[in-house]
Amino acid sequence: MKKFNRAITYGTFDLFHIGHLRLLKRISALANELYVAVSSDEFNSIKGKTCVIPFEERKEIIAALNCVTQVIKEDNWEQKISDIQKYHCDLFVMGDDWEGKFDFLKPYCEVIYLPRTQGISTTAIKKSMKQ
Ligand code: CTP
Repeated sequence: MKKFNRAITYGTFDLFHIGHLRLLKRISALANELYVAVSSDEFNSIKGKTCVIPFEERKEIIAALNCVTQVIKEDNWEQKISDIQKYHCDLFVMGDDWEGKFDFLKPYCEVIYLPRTQGISTTAIKKSMKQ
């Protein structure tokens, strides 16, 4: 039996890569279900981020993974508490580049930061495509 029932994680998942896949697989090993909140194009532009792949396609890729139960949309920074409550999540996970940033969610569920896969990121892929 897995320790948690439903995990949730958030991300942009642009130019889907092995670091994304490994993170999602590791989360799904901890919980029976995994909900993934994919950031909308509008939210990315608020954050000053431009995606190569539009939201609907990033969502379709994540939704096709065996380790993912459900994909939802991330529209703003504030929705995390209400998502955790609405979807009855007992685990919140992010890569450790976010270490400590979401500890305010600890009254609502377990919060875990997993080590990132080294040597790969969307930013690095974008840079190498430009060269
Ligand atoms: N992630 C990871 N290992 C990597 C890259 C990302 O575990 N090598 C994790 C992040 O920590 C986050 C999730 O994947 O929890 C989604 O990250 P995202 O920001 O979409 O991917 P990055 O490749 O980090 O994108 P960017 O370079 O634009 O920051």
